[in-house]
Amino acid sequence: MSLKPQVNAGRLLASVAEFAAIGATPAGGVNRQALGVEDRAARRLLAERGLARGFTVFQDDIANLFIRREGRDASLPSLLIGSHLDSQPNGGRFDGALGTLIAFEALEALEDAGIETERAVEVVAFTNEEGSRYAPGCMGSMAFAGAGKVADWEKTQATDGPVLADELAATLAALPEAEIRPTGHAVCAFVELHIEQGPILEREEVPIGVVTAVQGTKWLEVIFSGEAAHAGTTPLEFRKDPMSAAAAAIASLQSAVMPADPDARLTVGRIAAEPGSINVIPRSVTFTVDIRHPDAATLGAMELHVRRECEAAAESRECVVTISRRVDMAPGRFDPAITTAIEEASQALGLKSRPMVSGAFHDALFVSRVAPTAMIFVPCRKGISHNEAEFVSDAHMVCGAQVMLGVVETLASAG
Ligand code: GLV
Ligand code: MN
Ligand code: MN
Repeated sequence: MSLKPQVNAGRLLASVAEFAAIGATPAGGVNRQALGVEDRAARRLLAERGLARGFTVFQDDIANLFIRREGRDASLPSLLIGSHLDSQPNGGRFDGALGTLIAFEALEALEDAGIETERAVEVVAFTNEEGSRYAPGCMGSMAFAGAGKVADWEKTQATDGPVLADELAATLAALPEAEIRPTGHAVCAFVELHIEQGPILEREEVPIGVVTAVQGTKWLEVIFSGEAAHAGTTPLEFRKDPMSAAAAAIASLQSAVMPADPDARLTVGRIAAEPGSINVIPRSVTFTVDIRHPDAATLGAMELHVRRECEAAAESRECVVTISRRVDMAPGRFDPAITTAIEEASQALGLKSRPMVSGAFHDALFVSRVAPTAMIFVPCRKGISHNEAEFVSDAHMVCGAQVMLGVVETLASAG
């Protein structure tokens, strides 16, 4: 006998709290960066939960972790749902984890109700979505979609030292119960739930965002090289000061790019000087630039603008600049059939929804290149994310889970 599946709200909220304890920071966030020990612990917990319910657990060569509940017809491509478990350094407890745990709750709800779906449903925790420790982000979903492969990244060094190949091997080995299967199997669709990470849903008091598109992102690494010299004895005309060049370039970009276009985003999030001594004019200064725009051509023009400003600043200080692109994610559009399924599931539950474009990139951006894909957003308090203060109310988590379950019922039952 099968019942109408229901989300178990208490179990979901307890599960979000339990995962938030892995890598918990004193200020209520998490530091569970990709492929580190905390990330491995979270993967283990999810895998154990899956095994305990009788689901199949497997991983691929980039350590994407899958929990599979069989359907009636094993020959049909599965329905994929999920997100990621890695976090920003001192990030929020919901970014990624919420979508992964809500996906797992949907699987458990189907199991509790004894529902047999037509096709299998798989929960995925994609590897290294954030990209803060090992750039680029979305490695797992890129590999899944054939947009990159382990060999491209194995020599990448983490911000705190380790090399990706070593930590990837340790991460895979830490879950011997999860067989390794080929990367990038066929799926009929992918649905990712995520905290909005912006203020729109909260401001408009709408509980569900139906994400129709994701804006494009580029990450640039800029290195200004000058000449190390004594801070006290070097007059202005003798200085080749890369910090002065970097400061001029950053100030000019900050004051020009976003004020000129409300859709443009420009962020300098990391900067370091060498040798990094108080009384030494630096030998070099390295910083990152994260630029975003929904329009690919405009994003291309923004990159050119950044390059020109940096070159001009270098020249004026007798420095040299080198600029390398670390991430290049074109904007993406989601599948109308999947966004409609999300809208209809929300409507059936009496929940208001609105279409929206994601300002953040997500694993769904890459999976959308190989399977019909869309995302569900839930409101984010004050729009604050990539911050320990990130917060989603219990009620919004439960609404999001109900919508996900409704979408899963529709998409997994279709033959
Ligand atoms: C994802 O974390 C992003 O930076 O958009
Ligand atoms: Mn995320
Ligand atoms: Mn994030």
